[in-house]
Amino acid sequence: MARLKTGVLISGKGTNLQALLDAAADESFPAEIVNVIANKAGAPGLERARKAGVKAQFIDHTLFQEREDFEKKLDETLRENGVQFVALAGFMRILTPWFVDKWKDRLINIHPSLLPAFKGVHTHERALESGVRVHGATVHYVRPEMDEGPIIGQAAVPVLAGDTKETLADRVLEAEHKLYPACLKLVAENKARVTAGLVRMDKDCAPDPHTVLSNPCLR
Ligand code: GRF
Repeated sequence: MARLKTGVLISGKGTNLQALLDAAADESFPAEIVNVIANKAGAPGLERARKAGVKAQFIDHTLFQEREDFEKKLDETLRENGVQFVALAGFMRILTPWFVDKWKDRLINIHPSLLPAFKGVHTHERALESGVRVHGATVHYVRPEMDEGPIIGQAAVPVLAGDTKETLADRVLEAEHKLYPACLKLVAENKARVTAGLVRMDKDCAPDPHTVLSNPCLR
């Protein structure tokens, strides 16, 4: 079966990108990473892509007066590279409805909280302040509203006594690195489709009540 040609948009470190590249290095993985674009010069993720033999490009958003002009360039570049599906991985730029609609149901994001809790930034700090016992990460289809959209998968981690925002962030990030490739696999296999605003899983992918990571479809 043809692998889903995936583009990844990043702004920084790219550890989630690395997890996707590592998963896709196995030819039996149903998606391949064909293009990585960063909006920040020198984003370490660009080097990760190049090392994996993936076309990596920097598009400076500050050169464009309007958000949509930057996004038109993004869209054009992704299409030129044959991208069919886009994964945001630490892409720190809000996308307009124009781009989001253009890539509707072909655009996913990873967010460091169990949505709909803690949308926006500083999620680990806010989780600690709020006293939640469980925190985590979410992979979801992107909609124009920030951190909204049909949820594909979530990974839960405990909040432990003595946690700082850094220790909690590390624990969540480790879970993200398993969750993101697992979710990309599900969508690439067409096992997690959007129907009536929610992701419907195939019956054999019914989520485990405790953590979706113990769902065989997400391993
Ligand atoms: C991750 O925590 C992700 O959830 C958020 O941005 C961070 C990106 O980290 N969207 P990295 O660049 O993948 O290391």
